[in-house]
Amino acid sequence: MPRTYRPNTRLLIIGLVTAATVTFHYGYIIPPSHGGSGLFHAIHGRLCYIPIILGAIWFGVRGGISVALLITALTLPYGRIRGITDSALLLNEYTEMVFYLAIGLTSGILIELQRYERRRREALSKELALKEHLSSLGQMAAGLAHEIKNPLGSIQGSAEILGDDFPPGSRKHELLQVLTKESHRLSRVVEDFLSFARPRPLERTPTQVNDVVRDVVSQAEIENVSGNVSIVPMLDPDLPQAPLDSEKIHQVFLNIILNAIAAMPDGGTLTITTRKEIFNGETFIAASFTDTGHGISKENLEKIFDPFFTTRESGTGLGLSISHVIIQNHNGKIEIQSTLGKGTSVTVLVPIKQEGSIAAR
Ligand SMILES: Nc1ncnc2c1ncn2[C@@H]1O[C@H](COP(=O)(O)OP(=O)(O)OP(=O)(O)O)[C@@H](O)[C@H]1O
Ligand SMILES: [Mg+2]
Repeated sequence: MPRTYRPNTRLLIIGLVTAATVTFHYGYIIPPSHGGSGLFHAIHGRLCYIPIILGAIWFGVRGGISVALLITALTLPYGRIRGITDSALLLNEYTEMVFYLAIGLTSGILIELQRYERRRREALSKELALKEHLSSLGQMAAGLAHEIKNPLGSIQGSAEILGDDFPPGSRKHELLQVLTKESHRLSRVVEDFLSFARPRPLERTPTQVNDVVRDVVSQAEIENVSGNVSIVPMLDPDLPQAPLDSEKIHQVFLNIILNAIAAMPDGGTLTITTRKEIFNGETFIAASFTDTGHGISKENLEKIFDPFFTTRESGTGLGLSISHVIIQNHNGKIEIQSTLGKGTSVTVLVPIKQEGSIAAR
């Protein structure tokens, strides 16, 4: 495995190699009488490419150009110090400096392109590995989840019927309510898992995102999950419709709202805004959910879209991974900004025109 140096060590190595090569270049180590303007000088001149290329390898275009500029500045007085008056020799020196800059720039660009390509390949192979993992996991577990769903339905129904036999406030009524609530939660987990492992294809219809937001908010209020959180919708009245799978978008918004509510156990405000945004000439519908909750640490922020990543005792860690896949299938994206102790803002962006995804299917 190639050895890796810390940035400071890298800078020190570049500094030392630059000092050594420039000293060679000036003929301080092998004096000019031994070839200062001849073969040795020419070799020393080429040695200056080493720190430039090191700069490009370790710090990209910025590194390559910076070291090239440094060496150019250090070698610029060479002609004057050595008393060179021959214009051909001087031209030779200056041409060399232009080459320093060109090599710094070119090697920096090549290195950055190579890194970009490597990162892209790594991301692709990670995505592929995740897909393979999910498909085998999905096949195994989807069968199991189906088997759980039916008896769970019977348990829920029975608990609800039995609950009517006991007066509200009685111990048995309360216990049956717990049974109903917990089996509802379990069935939501199973539903989540199934929709993650075996997503159904999108069914797009012209959708008004404001209506979906209103539906989700009233669902949260009806199910009384909002607790002490006040939900403030600020919806753009001129928002255009978009061809979306409204049920799936509903699922995404519900996941995000439930996360925001869970992040504010002592209450707070969840502001939901919708608007039209234009990126690179393409129009998107944006819906932002901004909470005043506990926020997400930098470390966790990198993992929140990973399946089964959760910091909540009762969480399965599938909400955001499912939402991510749904929005990706709509050719959109989810952006998250968070400050620990202050709150989180989740923005869902979906393009108004969906031709790309239809063509891609
Ligand atoms: N608005 C938010 N504020 C703070 N943390 C959040 C917020 N949204 C997501 N998170 C963090 O991201 C994690 C993953 O979220 P995700 O919705 O995928 O799973 P979950 O909510 O834990 O479980 P579930 O599968 O029930 O949704 C959460 O456990 C939480 O740590
Ligand atoms: Mg969640």
